[in-house]
Amino acid sequence: MSAVIAVIGGTGLCDWVGAEALESLTPQTPYGAPSAALRRLRFGGAEFLFLARHGDEHGVPPHRVNYRANLWALRESGARSVLAVNAVGGIGERYGAGAIVLPDQIIDYTYGRDHTFFDGGDSGVEHIDFTEPYSASLRSALADSARACQLLLVEEGVYGATQGPRLETAAEVRRMARDGCDVIGMTGMPEAALARELGLEYASLCLVVNPAAGLAPGVITMDDIQAVIDSGMEQVKQLLADCVVKLAVAGRKPDA
Ligand code: HPA
Repeated sequence: MSAVIAVIGGTGLCDWVGAEALESLTPQTPYGAPSAALRRLRFGGAEFLFLARHGDEHGVPPHRVNYRANLWALRESGARSVLAVNAVGGIGERYGAGAIVLPDQIIDYTYGRDHTFFDGGDSGVEHIDFTEPYSASLRSALADSARACQLLLVEEGVYGATQGPRLETAAEVRRMARDGCDVIGMTGMPEAALARELGLEYASLCLVVNPAAGLAPGVITMDDIQAVIDSGMEQVKQLLADCVVKLAVAGRKPDA
């Protein structure tokens, strides 16, 4: 039986310690190979697919992730619902380091990425609706799980997707704040849009790992980021695990 739910792990979540590994899949796609093997895992009685967005060894930077191959491979392997995990910088009081955020909107500042399956020619031309970029039912399932796990979750936020791999300048962050961004990450797009193009339900769970550039004294160090990941990612995993199990038990069917 193939798993219907997939988790895409980002920085700080390259594997799922404690889950039973059932199968490792290495599907090829018309777009090349995904970032890593897809792992079919069993956890708490639920089966799901897990994919490390940056590769098993975290060797693929955000602008080089083959987002199309990743989403295609997940769908080909049976996934219909995708829970994505993203590490982000935070803007604004509610989005301090350690906060877990369920974004509801996106502004895309990325460029030069293969960002669509509808590339003209044989692949056709289609303009998907993206008014609400995330699945309402997956967001609500994640919010329910946060309550069940008694974890604080900021249930809204605008995700500003930047190109990376460098972090932003202070002026870029001020501009993004004026634009209405609440969190900044490098991997939220084109992943969310590609999922929509493939008809996959998609939601993102973000862990704020640093105040965005210029919002705290000093420079942003990888050591500081790692310290937040070390303390926060366990909570993200707990929330995800609760959600995956409940979705699986409910016999997850994709949104109509
Ligand atoms: N900016 C962009 N991406 C990020 C950040 C940030 O501050 N922190 C983690 N990912």
